[in-house]
Amino acid sequence: MDLFEAIKERRSIRAFKPDQIMKEKVEEMIALATKAPSAINLQPWEFTVVMGEEKERLSRRLVKSYREKQISCSPGNVKPLSDTFSKRGVESFQLMNPYLEEMGLQFDRFVNEGSCNFYGAPVAIILCLDNAFSKARLVDIGIVLGYLTLVAFGYGLGTCPIGLISAYEEEIKDLLNIPENKDVVIGMALGYPDWDSPVNRFKAPREHTSSVVRWIY
Ligand SMILES: Cc1cc2nc3c(=O)[nH]c(=O)nc-3n(C[C@H](O)[C@H](O)[C@H](O)COP(=O)(O)O)c2cc1C
Repeated sequence: MDLFEAIKERRSIRAFKPDQIMKEKVEEMIALATKAPSAINLQPWEFTVVMGEEKERLSRRLVKSYREKQISCSPGNVKPLSDTFSKRGVESFQLMNPYLEEMGLQFDRFVNEGSCNFYGAPVAIILCLDNAFSKARLVDIGIVLGYLTLVAFGYGLGTCPIGLISAYEEEIKDLLNIPENKDVVIGMALGYPDWDSPVNRFKAPREHTSSVVRWIY
């Protein structure tokens, strides 16, 4: 598959077919994704791949915690965001609404419970970072996650990064026996896209480079 085509066509997938993915295939994809660069080649990423009945158990636990705690998807900023950033997220998610209306779904419930359920994907991947590392190493985790989304697309699979799960870190660590010194950075839903689902037609827009690049020359 052409790399530029993959970059253009990839999107986050929020409805999956129930078909399972072979463990070997997931392994191959992770092997490719970990060709990603990392500072001093530290490769600080640690993957926990959850499949089958264990994935269903994880989803049930996270959806239950979401219903109890009601911690929702949010940008997680530490200071109020500028108008530019505040508007951007809201506007791009508003564009998803017509697809959800077509499915008779309400946005908040779909996105929050959906995220906790990895949108019904057969595979959930949890990416951890040892807490001995500085926060700067989160960059490496972000890069490998980006690679993995593209590698999966190349395999005809769909992904959705799931940042919300970091709010439920305690439950995840407990259920998956993740050691105390590992931070849960992000999750990822992985599976075959259900292209009949209207939500998968949604393509989030991007700003023109003129709004995000400052040129100095
Ligand atoms: C760090 C990160 C965290 C994300 N967390 C979530 C999430 O919890 N739930 C969700 O539905 N999508 C999540 N996404 C997907 C974004 O909403 C999506 O990438 C963005 O809207 C752009 O759309 P696209 O991936 O289809 O191009 C996340 C993406 C990233 C990079």
